[in-house]
Formats: sequence, C-alpha cells, structure tokens
Amino acid sequence: MNRKEEIQNLPRKNSGDTRTNPNEITRQEIESELKTNILARNIYCYSSIDSTNDEAKRQTLNGAPNGSLFLAEQQTGGKGRLGRKFLSPAGVGLWFSVLLRPEQIADEISTVTLKAGLAVCKAIRDLTDCPAKIKWPNDVVIGGKKVCGILTEMTADSNQTNFIVLGIGINVNVPSFPEELREKATSLLLETGENIPRIPLLQEVLFRLEKLLTNHTDENFWDEYKALCVSLNRKVKFSRNNLPLEGIAEDISPDGELLVHLEDGSVVAVCSGEVTVQGIYGQ
Ligand code: BTN
Repeated sequence: MNRKEEIQNLPRKNSGDTRTNPNEITRQEIESELKTNILARNIYCYSSIDSTNDEAKRQTLNGAPNGSLFLAEQQTGGKGRLGRKFLSPAGVGLWFSVLLRPEQIADEISTVTLKAGLAVCKAIRDLTDCPAKIKWPNDVVIGGKKVCGILTEMTADSNQTNFIVLGIGINVNVPSFPEELREKATSLLLETGENIPRIPLLQEVLFRLEKLLTNHTDENFWDEYKALCVSLNRKVKFSRNNLPLEGIAEDISPDGELLVHLEDGSVVAVCSGEVTVQGIYGQ
C-alpha cells in the first residue's frame, strides 16, 4: 500500500471518543508516528486562539523550547504578511507555528521561510494528487490559487535570545471562501473533492521541514525549490521606491532574493514585499 492509500484507509475516530469535538486534533495524535527529532517534541494545542504566532511569542517568554509546535483549530486573529488578516476557520485547516532557535538550525530567516514553503509544497504533492507549486517567496499555490501562506517573525525570550516563529496556514478542508477570496484562494478539499486527513499532512510537513533545516548542504534544496517555483521565467511586477517596475523573474540568489531582469537589461534583486506574478491569483 502506498502512502496515499494508507492515508485513505486510516481508521475514523470511534464512538467512545470523549472530546467535545471529535475532529479536534490532539497532542497524542500528532505525537503518534511523528518522525521528527527536534520539531514538535513539545506541543501546545488550542481549540481557539487569536494567533498561533502570537501565542508562540508569548510562550517563548515562559521558556518554550526550540522546536515547540503551537496548533489551533481556529484563529480569531490569524495574521498574514504585510499586516493582512488570515482566514482561519475551525476544524478545516492546519493553522500552526513552530518556534526555532536559529543558531541550532544554522539558517537565516529568509532561507527558513523558503524551506517551509518547499516542505509544505512537497508534503501536499506526496499525500494528494495536487500539483502544488511555490509562488516566491513562500506561498504554496495550486492552479494559480493560494492553498498555504507562511508568516515568519522574529522574537526574543527573557534572556534576549532570539527565536524565529514560523507560522504556517494550510487550507486543508475549507469548503468555500468569501467572495473576495474566491479567485485567489483554494483548499485541498476544493481541489480534490475529498476530505484530506490533517494529521498525516502536518506530520509530513514537520518531517520535511526538519530535514531541510538540519541539512547543512543546501544544494538539493535550491534545485528542488527552483523546480517547483512558479514565479521563475514569468513576468513579475513589484515596486521600488514607490515606482512600479516589471520584468522577467530569472533566478533566485543564494540569500533567497528574486532576481528580476528588467526591460532596460539590468537585473535587480527583490527581497520581500509584494510581487505579483502573471497568471497567479487572477493577475
Ligand atoms: C500570508 O499568506 O500572508 C501568511 C499567512 C500565515 C498564516 C499562518 S496561520 C498560523 C500562523 N498564525 C498566524 O496568525 N499566521 C500564521
């Protein structure tokens, strides 16, 4: 039996289950068959919370260790990049944050974010038939619509030790989106027509992420990332010093910047902010 078939045959929760909501993910379920050594060795699960990124930052002050996982069934104040809100309804997504101590994983914040995108993209491809791709730097998309967003933030504990909070939101079984998001967002349920079990997907993302973060030679990472990146060889638009610019995204630098070939022949390195890619999110 391959991995996809194994997941389809997973036992359903039984009737003796005492949880108020039998679909809620528990710590024990995440821990069983988890293949990581560092990530999610300490797990915090919530039915509802403002934002798992904010909770991770609060728990850092209480001494939460490196690799801690914060997962919520629902976020009431889910945060996206550039100050946006991130829709995180109850029971249908994977809304979680991982606390990372950079010196133990030997990575910069920009590469951690890119690696998280690759980990999610490959986990989705492994467990479903969805042809997931990455929109630089780290949105995961299927057929031009976003299925996962990643928000990475820095924080410090009471000893002023720096941590990275890596927040990942995957639209797993979201049945529909509000009108204004319908053109731009999708879920694995909408793409496959099937409910996708969330725990194996979470475990696979964590496993792949840990492998990428602890592998000190990044050679394969860049090849794999570029092969799955939809932004490359496409027309992209962005702004610099309030000036709108456009060109062809031709490569990614070792620091994770998008290298864009402008019409005047020059190449500029774009490091963050909003880059629109032709053909993605209805652009
Ligand atoms: C984006 O696409 O703009 C980033 C979205 C990041 C969403 C995740 S869900 C878990 C974590 N907690 C948050 O408040 N945000 C991130």
